[in-house]
Amino acid sequence: MYPIVKKVVLSSAVKEFEVRAPMVAEKAQAGHFFIMRANERGERIPLTIADYDREKGTITTIIQELGASSTLVGQMEEGDEILDFVGPLGVPSEIELFDGPTVLVGGGIGIAPIFPIARALKAAGNEVISIIGARNKDLLIWEEKMASVSDKLIVCTDDGSYGRQGFVTDALKDLYAERGKLAAVWAIGPMPMMRAIANVTRPWAVKTIVSMNPLMMDGTGMCGACRVQVGEETKFACVDGPEFDGHLVDFDLAIKRLAIYKDQEKRALAALEHKGGHCGCQ
Ligand SMILES: Cc1cc2nc3c(=O)[nH]c(=O)nc-3n(C[C@H](O)[C@H](O)[C@H](O)COP(=O)(O)OP(=O)(O)OC[C@H]3O[C@@H](n4cnc5c(N)ncnc54)[C@H](O)[C@@H]3O)c2cc1C
Ligand code: FES
Repeated sequence: MYPIVKKVVLSSAVKEFEVRAPMVAEKAQAGHFFIMRANERGERIPLTIADYDREKGTITTIIQELGASSTLVGQMEEGDEILDFVGPLGVPSEIELFDGPTVLVGGGIGIAPIFPIARALKAAGNEVISIIGARNKDLLIWEEKMASVSDKLIVCTDDGSYGRQGFVTDALKDLYAERGKLAAVWAIGPMPMMRAIANVTRPWAVKTIVSMNPLMMDGTGMCGACRVQVGEETKFACVDGPEFDGHLVDFDLAIKRLAIYKDQEKRALAALEHKGGHCGCQ
């Protein structure tokens, strides 16, 4: 069993968990994820390793409550135990010393998985410029952590309630106009945001890496649930990714595939709310 040693409520639907999982923490690297199952009736949920502490043997992750399974996890508290915690999974981020500024773009809860990549790039001697964005100030997470590993941090909110007003793509365009040359861009966030970033950098021919979050089942490359079209190739995000060349990913197909079980997901969430007595019909 894997005890939750710390829980921080970042907003009503976004929770940060620190979980004791020493064997996972020992091997964790930037770009890795894990798959957890809250209890024997729970679904398998893939989550990014947003931070790790090898000495304490803990993993930190951020979860956004979207459907029934993530909502159940979000309701867990310090001291509760997670039944299964499998990882680290996936291919770690390719960290090297680049000839020019590296730009890390995090949108929404995508800010958390971009943090260990920014930290690793900084440790490798790169100039790290981070652009983080959220819909509004209340939804912005990990600003201080990102500042601690960035040479420059640009904060954006859609509504202008904090930082500069506008999308992360606007900040990236301005940065490119200012700096002229960028060595590489990493983007993590909702698929439409990653698609927008890849479309912005394509004409600049700047290496752009995105972290795909398709539906996953076994996490071993056997079931095919997580397949992503990358150029001419079909890749499995769980074993070939989750990071891919953003200029080659077929985002339209990936977004369509994510919505495959929409109706079933809605029913599962309604059933959970009903059991919790929130539906008001009892
Ligand atoms: C490699 C990887 C890393 C991930 N890292 C994180 C993370 O650090 N934090 C986090 O909160 N989530 C992360 N996710 C997404 C997370 O796994 C899903 O949000 C979760 O499985 C949804 O489960 P659910 O049963 O609550 O929702 P469901 O009932 O399955 O879905 C509810 C809604 O969420 C959408 N959805 C379902 N799965 C995903 C998905 N994989 N990505 C985006 N939207 C989805 C559905 O289209 C639906 O509209 C990651 C996914 C992958 C593949
Ligand atoms: S989750 Fe089954 S192949 Fe990737």
